[in-house]
Amino acid sequence: GSARDLAGRRVVISAGGTREPLDPVRYLGNRSSGKQGYALARTAAARGAAVTLVAANTALPDPAGVTVVPVSTTEELRDAVHKAAAEADAVVMAAAVADFRPASRATQKIKKRDDREPEPIALVRNPDILAELAADRPAGQLVVGFAAETEDVLPNGRAKLARKGCDILVVNRVGEGIAFGTEENEAVILEAGGAETEVPHGPKEALADRVWDVVARHWP
Ligand code: C5P
Repeated sequence: GSARDLAGRRVVISAGGTREPLDPVRYLGNRSSGKQGYALARTAAARGAAVTLVAANTALPDPAGVTVVPVSTTEELRDAVHKAAAEADAVVMAAAVADFRPASRATQKIKKRDDREPEPIALVRNPDILAELAADRPAGQLVVGFAAETEDVLPNGRAKLARKGCDILVVNRVGEGIAFGTEENEAVILEAGGAETEVPHGPKEALADRVWDVVARHWP
């Protein structure tokens, strides 16, 4: 894309990985670094967009000129994204959101007891924020999801795009040192209309720029 081609647009990006507390000191979480989401935020800001970055448990420097909203749990991420999305031209869900959370959170640290086996952890389903955003989107707003797949990347990606109801799904090939925690990524950008753009292995910034190119093409 050309310089400042996103000027006048407002975008919301989620990044990182949510954590679901078990007790005051423990959580269920994932290894997402947030690097792809931060690359999306930096590139959008560089191209002139007003950017809100909802950052779940990341350890990365705040990108210059970006509004960063730190969150931890899926519920916090959901509230922050929905609030920011109300005024946005595009929402990109790059965060790894926990599919499940513990059914209850102990108010005190869970104790180890020598006379008993540990209690199993009961889980409940988290809301699918991407599907909610897609279902509620105002006219003209683009909703973009990310999916990591290790096999049958395209069939799984196409099925997920349809299931989530979003406009664009960026399907990452993961495994063999690609994606989680690394500086590079390779992906296919799937559009609801059927277009598919292969993005070769390269920096997360390059993938981010291709995503904004596709988003910008869809805006009225
Ligand atoms: O279904 P799956 O987890 O593979 O979908 C990934 C996409 O859905 C990502 O864009 C992620 O941010 C989003 N997601 C979500 N809410 C969930 C689970 C995933 O918004 N509970």
